[in-house]
Amino acid sequence: MDFKLGKGGDVRVILVLKDATSLEDGNKLYSYLKEKELFKGDSGEVYSNISYSGDKILLLGLGEEDKITANSLRQAFFKAGKELIKFKVESVDISIPEFNNTSYESAIQAVVEGLLQSEYSFEKYLTKKKTIPTIKDVYLDVLSEKENLTTKTIDETINLIDGIFLARDLANEPAMVMTPEKLANSAKEELEKLGVEVEIFGKEKIEELGMEAFLAVSKGSSKEPQLIVMNYNGDTSSNEKLALVGKGLTYDSGGYCIKTPGGMLTMHCDMAGSASVIGTMKAIAKSKLKKNVVGVVVACENMISGDAYKTGDIIGSMSGKTIEVINTDAEGRLTLADALWYAVKVAKADKVVDIATLTGACVAALGNINTGAVTNNEEFMNDVKKASEISGELTWELPHNDEYRELIKGTFADLKNSTTGGAGTITAGLFLEQFVDNTPWVHLDVAGTAYISKEMGYLPKGATGVPVKTLYYLVKEY
Ligand code: BES
Ligand code: MN
Ligand code: ZN
Repeated sequence: MDFKLGKGGDVRVILVLKDATSLEDGNKLYSYLKEKELFKGDSGEVYSNISYSGDKILLLGLGEEDKITANSLRQAFFKAGKELIKFKVESVDISIPEFNNTSYESAIQAVVEGLLQSEYSFEKYLTKKKTIPTIKDVYLDVLSEKENLTTKTIDETINLIDGIFLARDLANEPAMVMTPEKLANSAKEELEKLGVEVEIFGKEKIEELGMEAFLAVSKGSSKEPQLIVMNYNGDTSSNEKLALVGKGLTYDSGGYCIKTPGGMLTMHCDMAGSASVIGTMKAIAKSKLKKNVVGVVVACENMISGDAYKTGDIIGSMSGKTIEVINTDAEGRLTLADALWYAVKVAKADKVVDIATLTGACVAALGNINTGAVTNNEEFMNDVKKASEISGELTWELPHNDEYRELIKGTFADLKNSTTGGAGTITAGLFLEQFVDNTPWVHLDVAGTAYISKEMGYLPKGATGVPVKTLYYLVKEY
């Protein structure tokens, strides 16, 4: 899909506000539809009249003007994109007016994103493809004084979508393909050509670093763990560095605290957090953001074997803190404990966000709608919240009172990896907090949002790429 400025294309997309009395363009069709009550202009409503020899029009409802947001535009243009693909349309013309409550830039961003989102599918293993993108040219007729801004926004959104689609592709691959080693190689392949320095460390180096918690989780698998460190230095004049730390369980069977078949079914996606880190690094590097970011991914499998870790084990960690293994299925926090310590102490990041499909409790609390957040720094949390608002990816902060911190204290070791008494998402988050040594930190639990079992608006079934957009805007704006 190519974006061009100006008029052109076979099919005209006409934007319609709810209950508009008339339209400048396509009014005859609209009056007919209005009289028959076939089209009202509700947000995301589509009526296409794409005929062989006559009209080639698509009416796209945007709802009430005051209720238009970047996200409602994304959803609407996603639907328009799907309809255009259905009719095998190759080129379209869309004229973009100014909206009351949305800046021109974010409207353009939303239009471009929505259209691009309609092209995603993960069909490489289908012998007969279902989604075949057809749109080659999109002509955007924009306000003349906004042409430069539009061109910049288009390029940036294309890069962002590249990052999102990469995150989805990585996470949708089955675990038999997306092994720790394959994930590491993918990061190298995708990022090095964009100027990101990618270092891959295997078991030996991980042992040398003293990442005992990470190693304990990986022990049951025949596949070596991989520590993937990605350095993007977009601003050499500054020492500030943000770390993005991703949970990278390429498969989580639960270990000896084995999951049910239903619970295990989607656990090839337990590396979605790292996929979002790699996807974000790609978008940042492609758009050449003037910021310094280090991505840290800890990739391994949680399996069963004669060598696997067990309940009751007392393990160490890179930080020196000791941990009682209460539940081998609470493995993500163990791998992240060492990854966070590495980000803070070795990579020397001064702010950290971790992204993890960490707890089923988060799905119970927030469903597939909101990502759960836990922080040790409200100011930094606010930055993440603002980025999440720009992105349209919802995030909800959970409380972090000291009473919760009591729950993760161990009996025979400093900490325990699983608690009773509920609040599973908060206690998992506060376990991680133990390994950031007071560095401003936000934990994002994407267990419900990074993978969905039914499509939701522009988010496809399977891996969603959430929260790549939030991370991108966090890096860009703050
Ligand atoms: N990867 C799972 C969390 C998960 C559950 C992600 C559902 C996506 C969908 C994680 O490793 C896990 O198993 N967590 C346990 C923690 C518990 C044993 C303390 C859970 O949530 O049950
Ligand atoms: Mn688990
Ligand atoms: Zn897991």
